[in-house]
Amino acid sequence: MTEKVAITFQGKTFEFPLVEGTFGEKGIDISTLRSTTGLVTFDPGYMSTGSCTSDITFLDGEKGILLYRGIPIEQLADKSNFVETAYLLIHGELPTKDELSYFNHHVVHHSMLHEAIKNLYDGFPNNPHPMAVASAVVGSLATFYQNEISVRDEREIEITIHRLLAKLPTIAAYSYKKSIGQPLPYPDNALGYCGNFLKMMFSTPCEPYEVDPVAAKALDVLLILHADHEQNCSTSTVRLVGSSMSNLFASVSAGIYALWGPLHGGANQAVIEMLEAIHQDGGDIDKYVAKAKDANDPFRLMGFGHRVYKNFDPRSKIIKKLAHQVFEKVKVHDPLFEIALKLEDIATRDEYFLEKKLYPNVDFYSGLIYKALGFPVPMFPVLFAMGRLPGWIAQWKELQADKDFKIGRPRQIYTGKSTRDYVPLTDRG
Ligand code: SDX
Repeated sequence: MTEKVAITFQGKTFEFPLVEGTFGEKGIDISTLRSTTGLVTFDPGYMSTGSCTSDITFLDGEKGILLYRGIPIEQLADKSNFVETAYLLIHGELPTKDELSYFNHHVVHHSMLHEAIKNLYDGFPNNPHPMAVASAVVGSLATFYQNEISVRDEREIEITIHRLLAKLPTIAAYSYKKSIGQPLPYPDNALGYCGNFLKMMFSTPCEPYEVDPVAAKALDVLLILHADHEQNCSTSTVRLVGSSMSNLFASVSAGIYALWGPLHGGANQAVIEMLEAIHQDGGDIDKYVAKAKDANDPFRLMGFGHRVYKNFDPRSKIIKKLAHQVFEKVKVHDPLFEIALKLEDIATRDEYFLEKKLYPNVDFYSGLIYKALGFPVPMFPVLFAMGRLPGWIAQWKELQADKDFKIGRPRQIYTGKSTRDYVPLTDRG
């Protein structure tokens, strides 16, 4: 017997069924609300609104749980690798040996960009933000492959997935190399996903380059930790764009722009800029915690707080441990790390943060590792996008295959002027 919720409005009672999830979470199915009551819901920011059912990722914000296709993030970070995790998210199961080798082969063998794409990089002004470049170039792939981007053809969807996963590291590396006036590199298919990316980023034609296994492993874990996060802002963007049957390149290009915002994936860049500012200001942490608590001060502690996690973000726990390991191995002493540790210690004991349940999120420590690995700060959100790409793909693919597929089109409550007549210019004073 399906549980129901009753709403009484203007003396009439209307019943709506409940949708129940794997772990008992419940939602009111209000898809018939307007047709039966004339009412719409009102929920700015979708604080209490589910947009879909999904089999991909489960979060428990109170317990700090994150599962990809049912597997805890801690186990994947410890035992898996990014390409395998991407397969899991996209296809729903861990791959067999043959499935992984097929997937890996195709992801690797699409890593080159069409030579004409280099002209796009020549067209940008000096030092463009790499997120703008990444979104523009990913969007441009829809022109280079425009005859193979059907959203209902399985083979075209598969090759587009392989192209995106393979080419985003090359696109990212190109934007960095272009910004420092170095030649655009070619991928090295003999290297793994992260090793190839590090080589494209940091090698030059003048001397041999050895991939540092510590750096490659740290990057691989970070990409796994960023790979999906249910219906966050950028993933919801990818779904909404895909709901018009727009192709995957276009949907991901829009997702990259959504991720760029400092309240979302751009926070990893904003955290480092905040830590730098505190460092430059003599390390006066109490001053910045007070600013964050001051309702009249727009300053926020970047890297703190989360819409869903009202406890520690499980990813930030893993990243904090990874940061210690990386700093030890690459012999980096970063004063910003000390400031971050002190900031976390103060904030997680402070009444304001405890009461508002503000804990370090995935962005709080990740930038310190990227910095230790030599990435320039503006590249940090692009590294987030590289990690989140398989999640965006998996969610877009799930949407396209949804038996109840519909274009996303929210309603509104209009609060503007009531009906009035046009006033000719001569009568407007
Ligand atoms: C990501 O959704 C996801 O899953 C995102 C993500 C993913 O993997 O896709 O996890 C990645 O985007 C992580 C979040 C990165 N952003 C930041 O670190 C930016 C700083 N944090 C915030 O701006 C904020 O916490 C958000 C955007 C993350 C969440 O915002 P909400 O859920 O809309 O909460 P809110 O802004 O309404 O804040 C609730 C209260 C407010 O105070 P009151 O108005 O109730 O008095 O907490 C305060 C806020 O002022 N608050 C903060 C704060 N974050 C919230 N106060 C100081 N410092 C902060 N960082």
